[in-house]
Amino acid sequence: MANFDIVNAFTDKSWLDEMAGKLARKMAYGAKKAREVGWMPYSTKDGGWAETRIGWWTNGFWPASMWQMYLMTGDQLFREEALRAELMLDDALKDFKNLSHDVGFMWLIHSGVRYALEHDQDSFDRTLFAADMLACRYNVNGFIRAWNPAGREGWAIVDCMMNLPILYWASRQTDDPRYRLMAMKHADTTARYFVRPDGSCNHIVIFDAETGEYLDNPAGQGSASGSSWSRGQAWALYGFTLSCIHTGKQEYLDTARRVANYFISQCEGDWLPRCDFRQPPEPVIRDNAAGNIAACGLLELARCLPEAEGSRYFDAAVNILKAQERDAANWTESDPAIFTKCTALYNDPKQHHMTMTYGDYYFIEAVNKLRGEKLLFWNP
Ligand code: GLY
Repeated sequence: MANFDIVNAFTDKSWLDEMAGKLARKMAYGAKKAREVGWMPYSTKDGGWAETRIGWWTNGFWPASMWQMYLMTGDQLFREEALRAELMLDDALKDFKNLSHDVGFMWLIHSGVRYALEHDQDSFDRTLFAADMLACRYNVNGFIRAWNPAGREGWAIVDCMMNLPILYWASRQTDDPRYRLMAMKHADTTARYFVRPDGSCNHIVIFDAETGEYLDNPAGQGSASGSSWSRGQAWALYGFTLSCIHTGKQEYLDTARRVANYFISQCEGDWLPRCDFRQPPEPVIRDNAAGNIAACGLLELARCLPEAEGSRYFDAAVNILKAQERDAANWTESDPAIFTKCTALYNDPKQHHMTMTYGDYYFIEAVNKLRGEKLLFWNP
């Protein structure tokens, strides 16, 4: 039986054309503003790109957005900005001691993509070096260490599911199964210790780094230990879907489906995901990044499933994308970013309802998927 076809199923072509036109204008404005500053865009302040440090984990999303826009429009402005940003990121690669597990976000989705499109050897080397840095973080007890500070040797986080594709990529490029095997062990550990029976997830799990024994699950970026940080749910939803696509392992598909069902159950109605699905009812804190990431995951999950089942995930993705766009997109030139209700951290009110380049990135990715793009960015 054929799998669900998201492109044929999306009949609202006028919405898609409207979004493509708005993205082309807004992202060209953002790219011009980026060239005026000496740092990588992440969030905005006073109508311009706020200053960041080059090692910040989100920095691959800017050049990745530029490649998505180049594929959408063919406009060289976007390709040139992607290459400029890729070169800027070499300072982060050189400072490899300070890299975290986020190297997939930082290099696969632009250097890996550039290598796939243009066979640039430097882009290949950057991506493989980043994969090696992630492989170095593997603890033989079956998990990837998330962060560097002393005392965090045994900390793993659900977000890492989205960095595993760089390991699958490295195995394919080198014909060496070790990268893939490490990724699968980490995914197995995540399925076991992070994903709860109802499909909600822990953000952080602390293991004993010597023995691998489970120790604790602190709150992380959600509201409390045992809560359900929606972006963590989204990372798990999309991450397990990608691990299934890369390995064919049925358990990853089943886990993605369980997380997706929970995610949908928590936002159907207004389709505007809250920052934490178990946060107190007031104030209502949203996270547009969680919604756009989940929408991309739901579209890919739909593509992995037969017609009848896929349509449920497809419909949910489209509902989220349209609801968030109506509620929170800023298409004007008062600010170079688009989505205004992204939340970095539940327990820091200063980081509520802010702009974030990766909130915008996943919206662009979703629009490109609905226009026919075939997962180049997570499987280049
Ligand atoms: N990966 C960190 C975050 O989602 O905020």
